Amino acid sequence: MESATGVVFCVFVFIILNEILVIILTYLVFVLLTAWYTLQSGGSELDAVERGCAQCEIDQCDGSVGFGGSPDEHGETTLDAMIMDGDTMEVGAVADLRRIKNAIGVARKVIQHTKHTLLVGESASLFAESMGFPCEDLTTQNSLSIYLKWLYQSCQPNYWKNVIPDASKSCGPYKQAKQLNSEEWINSQKRINIHNHDTIGMIVIGGSGHVAVGTSTNGAVHKIQGRVGDSPIAGAGAYADSTTGGAAATGDGDIMMRFLPSYQAVEYMRTGTDPTTACQKVISRIQKYVPYFFGAVICANTTGSYGAACNKVPGFTQFHFMVYSPLLNQPFEQVVDCI
Ligand SMILES: *[C@@H]1O[C@H](CO)[C@@H](O)[C@H](O)[C@H]1NC(C)=O
Repeated sequence: MESATGVVFCVFVFIILNEILVIILTYLVFVLLTAWYTLQSGGSELDAVERGCAQCEIDQCDGSVGFGGSPDEHGETTLDAMIMDGDTMEVGAVADLRRIKNAIGVARKVIQHTKHTLLVGESASLFAESMGFPCEDLTTQNSLSIYLKWLYQSCQPNYWKNVIPDASKSCGPYKQAKQLNSEEWINSQKRINIHNHDTIGMIVIGGSGHVAVGTSTNGAVHKIQGRVGDSPIAGAGAYADSTTGGAAATGDGDIMMRFLPSYQAVEYMRTGTDPTTACQKVISRIQKYVPYFFGAVICANTTGSYGAACNKVPGFTQFHFMVYSPLLNQPFEQVVDCI
């Protein structure tokens, strides 16, 4: 940031359901203030993204970021995170990170101390340990009880298809079914679970127009081990380009990552589309293939205009996100109607 009077925007994206709105907004105020003060005290936009996401990891936000949430099929919590510098186009990301709490911090180290972009799994944990991050159990009483409850209800819901035993009725281990059942998949697409897909995504635009973005999540609850969603994938979970702007996405990552929604939004803005329309065009493109997907995108350009769009499905008709700009001078909740 060049001066305290420069335009500094922090735009945060989070899927918020009405019943937990107040709780989430309270978490996000802390996240925003952390990022904002980082910028005000001379930190870079990347520092602001890292500290903001780290705050969410420490607070566990609503259980969908950081340790102790979204246990996978074996009850373990694993983390995905990414950070991107829109000046240099450098990306650092970790996926399926085990036993390390500060995923966004490890992602930043990937930029700072390696020539790689994405480290995964057990090996990413070894890298994190070599960078001085403590190795800790990410399971808590909360994640254990989510896992046990799921076991008691015959492992429902889960992410398997075309297997025996029938995954819609019983737990695994599963084997391939001889006959592929496409109807099963179509029906499962309609059973969207909007509670499973929260992520924190963040766009920070400094007074000099430098854009940085980041994401952090513990992924989809009850995911199959090894599953990586959109959050740590550049162009999917978030994208930054200081010549244009930034975007971040949240929702059903397994579907959204196939469309690189954040990259696509930035490309629309590059060709002159305003941020709101850019976000809407991205959602419309996915709708054509997957009408029932659950997701939202937020877009901001380098002069600080921003907008968002979401796909309207039963139970999710509005999308709430939070913005902190010098114009508003405090964390401010924004709402858009889904399309
Ligand atoms: C950002 O979007 C606003 C609204 O469409 C537009 O007026 C402004 O020129 C855009 N800024 C840039 C740098 O494209």
